[in-house]
This record gives sequence, C-alpha cells and structure tokens, in this order.
Amino acid sequence: MDSAGEKNLELKPFELLLDQKTIARRIAELGRDITAAYKNRNPVLLGVLKGCVVFLADLMRYIKLPLEVEFVSAASYRRGTTPDDEILFSSTSHIPLKDRHVLIVEGVVDSGRTVSAILNLVTKMEPASVEIVTLVDKPGSHRTKLDIAFKGFSIGNEFVIGFGLDNTQKYRNLPFIGKVIDV
Ligand code: IMP
Ligand code: MG
Repeated sequence: MDSAGEKNLELKPFELLLDQKTIARRIAELGRDITAAYKNRNPVLLGVLKGCVVFLADLMRYIKLPLEVEFVSAASYRRGTTPDDEILFSSTSHIPLKDRHVLIVEGVVDSGRTVSAILNLVTKMEPASVEIVTLVDKPGSHRTKLDIAFKGFSIGNEFVIGFGLDNTQKYRNLPFIGKVIDV
C-alpha cells in the first residue's frame, strides 16, 4: 500500500468511554422497555442513517414484537468534530407511516436539530404515535426542546466515535464507544 493509503488508516487519539459489555447490557434493557411499552402493537422502527446502523441491528433483536424497519438518511455537512448548519434529509414521503406507531432510532442526539426535523416530518404523516430512541444523548448540548422516550446513555459534550458513530465517516466499525481527545 502507498504511504497516502497508510496515512488514512492512522487512528485519531481517543479513550474508551463505553465498553462492549456495558453497551450490550443497556441495549438489552432498552429492548425489554420498548417491548413492554409497545405491547400488542406492531411498531415501525425508523432508523436515522448512518449512525443508527449498529445500534438498530442489536436493538431490534431484543424487541419481542412483530415490527417493521424503515430508514431515513440524514447527512450533515459537518467537518470533523465541528458542527455547522447544513442538514440534508432523504424523503420520507414514500414510507407508509400513517396510523403507525413510529419509533425513530438514532445513534446520537447532540443539538437535537436532526431528530427534531425528522420528528416534524413524521408528525406530518399522521402516525398513531411517534417516539425517539437514541443510544447516546448529550442533554447539555440540546438547542431545541426534545422529549426522548428511550435513551441508552447520557454523556457530556464530548465527541464520541464507534458503534456506528463516525468522525469524517470513519470509526463506525469500532465495537465500543470512544471519546475523541483533541491534541
Ligand atoms: P444533532 O446536533 O443532534 O442534529 O446531531 C447531528 C448529527 O451529528 C448526528 O446525527 C451525528 O451524525 C452527528 N454527531 C453529533 N455528535 C456526534 C458525536 O459525538 N459523534 C459522532 N457524530 C456526532
Ligand atoms: Mg456524522
């Protein structure tokens, strides 16, 4: 491999924040909570790509209900760890959510703007109900009032990677959650 390719593989410094066992245990609990909350219903899990993928794959196996899975794509023009204002969504209009119990599945809620925008889109489609589940929440960073029904972990304002969460599209495959250290 050339040196440019090798340079791309260099890891950014990070420290462990949530290990695999801790995350697995919490996801199992969330699955049980969601199973109880949606008893006798067939929820639609609406995953927010791409950060939801690892969490959703694990969570759905702990929900003991007949459920369906759909996805919406939210791409923020975010360079590195610095937030900016551009968020682009794929259309949700082709997803039949009217009269359905919709559970929006997020990897991380930071300012809350992404999930709020998706909540607004879904609400317009007249679902029977709509709630949010996120693996990681940063309550101190919310810039909009948000009601998150199910959350895995509340953390501070740190930037985290792994378990589906990226830094410039990398590190999603780390099986744990790490905290990026600015050096
Ligand atoms: P929002 O600020 O809640 O709208 O979050 C926007 C998006 O930024 C999230 O869906 C993630 O894609 C990304 N993001 C926010 N905080 C983090 C983080 O700590 N790690 C990785 N991605 C993040
Ligand atoms: Mg991202």
